Amino acid sequence: MGFSLSSTAASTCILFLFLLSCTCFTSTDAYDPLDPNGNITIKWDIITWTSDGYVAVVTMNNFQQYRHIAAPGWSLGWAWAKKEVIWSMVGGQATEQGDCSKFKGSIPHCCKKDPTVVDLLPGTPYNMQFSNCCKGGVLSSWAQDPTNAVASFQVSVGRAGTTNKTVKVPKNFTLKAPGPGYTCGPAKIVKPTKFIQPDKRRVTQALMTWNVTCTYSQFLAQKTPTCCVSLSSFYNDTIVPCPTCACGCQSNSSRSGSCIEADTPHLASVVAGSGKNTPLVQCTRHMCPVRIHWRVKLNYKEYWRVKVTITNFNYKMNYSEWNLVAQHPNFDNLTQLFSFNYKSLTPYGSINDTALLWGVKFYNDFLNEAGPSGNVQSELLFRKDKSTFTFERGWAFPRRIYFNGDNCVMPSPDAYPWLPNAGSRQEVSLFALVMASLVAVVLCFAQA
Ligand SMILES: *[C@@H]1O[C@H](CO)[C@@H](O)[C@H](O)[C@H]1NC(C)=O
Ligand SMILES: *[C@@H]1O[C@H](CO)[C@@H](O)[C@H](O)[C@H]1NC(C)=O
Ligand SMILES: *[C@@H]1O[C@H](CO)[C@@H](O)[C@H](O)[C@H]1NC(C)=O
Ligand SMILES: *[C@@H]1O[C@H](CO)[C@@H](O)[C@H](O)[C@H]1NC(C)=O
Ligand SMILES: *[C@@H]1O[C@H](CO)[C@@H](O)[C@H](O)[C@H]1NC(C)=O
Ligand SMILES: *[C@@H]1O[C@H](CO)[C@@H](O)[C@H](O)[C@H]1NC(C)=O
Ligand SMILES: *[C@@H]1O[C@H](CO)[C@@H](O)[C@H](O)[C@H]1NC(C)=O
Ligand SMILES: *[C@@H]1O[C@H](CO)[C@@H](O)[C@H](O)[C@H]1NC(C)=O
Ligand SMILES: *[C@@H]1O[C@H](CO)[C@@H](O)[C@H](O)[C@H]1NC(C)=O
Repeated sequence: MGFSLSSTAASTCILFLFLLSCTCFTSTDAYDPLDPNGNITIKWDIITWTSDGYVAVVTMNNFQQYRHIAAPGWSLGWAWAKKEVIWSMVGGQATEQGDCSKFKGSIPHCCKKDPTVVDLLPGTPYNMQFSNCCKGGVLSSWAQDPTNAVASFQVSVGRAGTTNKTVKVPKNFTLKAPGPGYTCGPAKIVKPTKFIQPDKRRVTQALMTWNVTCTYSQFLAQKTPTCCVSLSSFYNDTIVPCPTCACGCQSNSSRSGSCIEADTPHLASVVAGSGKNTPLVQCTRHMCPVRIHWRVKLNYKEYWRVKVTITNFNYKMNYSEWNLVAQHPNFDNLTQLFSFNYKSLTPYGSINDTALLWGVKFYNDFLNEAGPSGNVQSELLFRKDKSTFTFERGWAFPRRIYFNGDNCVMPSPDAYPWLPNAGSRQEVSLFALVMASLVAVVLCFAQA
């Protein structure tokens, strides 16, 4: 198979494959190829029956590897199947009480048919707390911090059934985090949860349990991109910037406040004076609040080295517990990583090419707002696998980058820095291209 194609034909082909894989990944909505089993599970355990209903503990587990829920936190809604009311809650609260005018004496906490519940804030008095509550709705991702990937509250429900035959499960669960993106399935009655007592000498169980599973879809979230990727290398002076308008274009109208020049005098007072909910990003050609720069820094005999820099361009946002997902074929031989945490994500089982990176607690897990300290960085040392390693055709650059679960906009592959003298004629085996297309097509269908 000694065919060799002209470089234009080869890059057209590569571009085609790239586009094909892009379309195939965006069209499969509630499916994240890098975290195919990720979901948030909500479990209701009925702990006791009361005279007119029950007391349940509601537990929310974030089983997603890298998607977390940041401030201002989650809100969970549902619709009661009958005329239930919430008498009281611990470790959470309904956002609206609704119309309780029919009640005399004790007034319920919430009478709405479709209550929305949020977490309490840190610093809530002890007598109103519940285990895993009071984090202002913030949920860590499973891979980063499983002990903080769980939230729970207790709810006392009235005007409900008082046996497992008469209780009706709530309907139409919604999860906002805080925007759209999650879809929740119907509540399913499952085997009652067993609770092992702390001394491990006794097991109790819920009187009745149901589960709800919610999954995330970037398509549903319909967010404009929030991050972009720029590239550079030691072997070519070109710095490939983020694509222009990757996250939006600098509006030419006089709509002030959409972005702010870095050299604005009295920057701090301009930022402080702007409205609370308007994002305030630095004016750049890409207009992204976050940029990830991947620099191929050094080449050793057995190893090569990459520097990753995450820069915050948002003057009004600190990212706590940020994370980065990077896909590159050499992650199966990552030898050393400086000042970031690492976990391999292996979405396709045997292919170990995806890494979850996040900051070291109290050191760089907090990405400061835009400004001189608004960046974090790390270096990665990879061991070369002689059979695959090359600096040609952009191989040393990442295939995909997510920041906080959002897909970052990459520069177009034909703009990648070239190796000197590599541009004129590239030897590309036709056989390899055909195989690659087949694999891409098969992957597409496997996911659809
Ligand atoms: C939810 O995620 C967990 C952990 O990844 C997995 O075991 C479970 O099967 C998932 N549930 C659904 C309904 O996908
Ligand atoms: C309800 O409780 C009875 C025993 O009291 C049990 O046999 C039955 O499986 C339970 N049903 C559900 C839906 O949990
Ligand atoms: C649940 O949502 C569906 C569709 O939006 C609606 O038809 C139904 O009435 C809702 N159920 C309740 C109990 O609100
Ligand atoms: C219900 O959800 C819990 C996690 O909250 C999980 O451990 C359990 O396996 C789920 N049960 C079923 C039957 O899916
Ligand atoms: C903005 O508009 C003015 C006149 O309409 C034009 O001259 C200028 O080039 C525009 N600037 C940008 C950045 O598009
Ligand atoms: C970001 O954190 C710094 C302290 O590290 C704080 O001074 C600043 O007000 C925070 N900014 C925002 C927008 O929360
Ligand atoms: C993936 O590669 C990394 C780096 O060599 C290694 O530490 C990790 O154990 C591998 N994971 C799997 C599932 O093979
Ligand atoms: C790279 O990792 C793969 C899979 O873990 C292993 O088979 C191979 O020997 C490694 N190569 C080097 C040069 O360490
Ligand atoms: C560096 O890469 C760019 C493509 O991004 C290419 O146009 C340029 O010729 C390369 N420079 C050298 C010295 O090869």
